[in-house]
Amino acid sequence: MEIIDGKAVASVLKAKMAAEVAIRKTSGLKVPHLAAILVGHNGSSETYVANKIKACKEVGFFSSTFRYPDTITEDELLNVINLINNDNDIDGFIVQLPLPKHIAENKVINAIKPSKDVDGFHPENTGRMIKNLPCYIAATPYGILKLIEHYKIETKGKHCVVVGRSNIVGSPMSILMSRDTYPGNCTVTLCHSKTQNLIEYTSKADILIVALGKPGFVKGDMVKEGAVVIDVGLTRVEDKAKKSGFSLKGDVIYDEVAPKCSYITPVPGGVGPMTIVALLENTLKAAKKEVYNS
Ligand code: GUN
Repeated sequence: MEIIDGKAVASVLKAKMAAEVAIRKTSGLKVPHLAAILVGHNGSSETYVANKIKACKEVGFFSSTFRYPDTITEDELLNVINLINNDNDIDGFIVQLPLPKHIAENKVINAIKPSKDVDGFHPENTGRMIKNLPCYIAATPYGILKLIEHYKIETKGKHCVVVGRSNIVGSPMSILMSRDTYPGNCTVTLCHSKTQNLIEYTSKADILIVALGKPGFVKGDMVKEGAVVIDVGLTRVEDKAKKSGFSLKGDVIYDEVAPKCSYITPVPGGVGPMTIVALLENTLKAAKKEVYNS
């Protein structure tokens, strides 16, 4: 059994990016600039955005945070997006989700210029992903692909079972693993909350990707011997022993499942650190105009 060390892979990839940015700087090329829009005071969102900005500094990117109170109207937010869409200095930006209830997330995502949509949430990027065209792939699925690639895990012809069908993880993951690329070429089964007899599917998976947000959902008897298990769960669970008052729990019972696996991602330190690296990679692609040429 090999533990997939997302933290270590993230460090390697960040060092590579930092070197590339340094060369760009000395060559007079544009230094990537990521902006984040943060609405309200959601604790998790504040932490996520702070971590993204910190990561930008680590690799030498410029970054900006646009903060607004949760009383901002939908129209005001759409105006801000329009300004950033037309700001030539900002290569890519994200609108941290969730947004307050009075703002339609879809409207906001649709307003982002696809060439600056480094979260890969715009339908243009989702459509391009499905058709295997140049696109920004959403950070979590992209981070998982990079982990599979880094460990040279064989995917061709394997049965990949994805549990969870969210727009951000499960749904794109199922498409990416079935495309004719590496990683990919899997036979994919997408399971969700209405799937009957889930264990029948999970126990046949060569590669099991779990993105449910239900701590400890996957038990030892649900996994095949030799499986590759990717745990995307990252739920805050109260933990009085921790200074923060919580610890992060995955969707997989690690102690039961790990002994049966060929590879497994721990929580924390597996998929989590890779999501930010994936966002940085997308921002670098945006600065290089690799995906869209304008
Ligand atoms: N909220 C939870 N995950 C994400 C993400 O990847 N991007 C954005 N913008 N918001 C999120």
